[in-house]
Amino acid sequence: MNAVRSVIVVGAGAMGRTWLDTIARRSDLHVSAVVDVVEGAARSAVEERGWDAPVFSTADGALSAVHADMLLNVTIPEAHLAVSSAALRAGVPVLSEKPVTPTVAEALQLADLSESTGVLLVTSQSRRFSPGISTFRDALQARGGAGQLDTRFFQNPRFGGFRDRMDHPLLVDMAIHSFDQARFLLDEDPESVYCEEFAPSWSWFDGGAAAEAIFRFPSGARFSYSGSWCADGLVTSWNGDWRGSAPDGTVTWDGEAEVVAQGRDDDPAAVPLGPAPDGEGLDAALAEFVAALDGGPVPSGEVHLNVWSLAMVEAAVQSADRGERIVLADVFDAARRDASAR
Ligand SMILES: NC(=O)c1ccc[n+]([C@@H]2O[C@H](COP(=O)([O-])OP(=O)(O)OC[C@H]3O[C@@H](n4cnc5c(N)ncnc54)[C@H](O)[C@@H]3O)[C@@H](O)[C@H]2O)c1
Repeated sequence: MNAVRSVIVVGAGAMGRTWLDTIARRSDLHVSAVVDVVEGAARSAVEERGWDAPVFSTADGALSAVHADMLLNVTIPEAHLAVSSAALRAGVPVLSEKPVTPTVAEALQLADLSESTGVLLVTSQSRRFSPGISTFRDALQARGGAGQLDTRFFQNPRFGGFRDRMDHPLLVDMAIHSFDQARFLLDEDPESVYCEEFAPSWSWFDGGAAAEAIFRFPSGARFSYSGSWCADGLVTSWNGDWRGSAPDGTVTWDGEAEVVAQGRDDDPAAVPLGPAPDGEGLDAALAEFVAALDGGPVPSGEVHLNVWSLAMVEAAVQSADRGERIVLADVFDAARRDASAR
């Protein structure tokens, strides 16, 4: 299909504006409306760009007033369920920011709605799209696949907003990226997790801003996550700092452009990065979504697949709260009961 698609963008905050610019880079997409509940937010986002797109204060209002071939949900997580549901019911495919919803139960509700309406719902997990991570994954697979994978994520943001007051700021707001990357790298979904979450004495967050988690996968592989949002000095990249051990050697990725591999009898060698024909990050997530609308493959963030990354977060939080290993199947069973009771 070569026609220009109309896009409604809901949520004109920091990330919504980044998405507006991402859409504007494509000649086959056109923003047909911008929506935000905060008065003036959508208007200023449109005016700053010199556009004349109409603005609305609700997704329903926009959906009934303008034509849309797709909707981008860039609202706060608590609004994701209502906004995505409205679009699916209107027959409009949705690309949503992560997390698809705050809970697995809500995500299953959306998965059901996507199924019953036959309308596509995809979560953008932009950190699985970069030449660095693809090269790291290919290099691990060439050595027989990682059986032991770990990442260290150490950053020190002073957000000063809602994240400072969350109960689980690191696990709920950030770790989903690393967890989703681990699913991408291992190409399987985990069985269980044991996680400890804590607040280092110097933390400026109210909730637990540091965590250690170990996931077990059906193949026997382990993925360990060590993270902190209150780590001043020697911070890692925002993608974390990765290492994978495979039958035929070890590969590391610094989270940016450096992938290094070494087998038993080799010297360490830099692995040249592969191409990124659809760009990276948001551009690549958008390209994958648009390709699916054109009849291409099911996107990697399609809701039924992506709910696994959310379930990893929910299971890690439960494990930290209860001090025990949590089985992912139990998280899904409880969420399914919760979703059916709604
Ligand atoms: N992929 C990434 O790296 C990344 C980075 C930052 C944020 N995010 C995600 O993007 C989303 C938005 O984050 P943000 O940082 O832009 O937040 P933000 O608070 O800056 O913006 C959210 C906007 O949504 C609006 N909004 C809330 N409820 C709404 C509703 N029902 N209808 C219409 N508008 C509504 C708010 O008024 C606000 O302007 C979140 O899901 C967040 O997790 C992803």
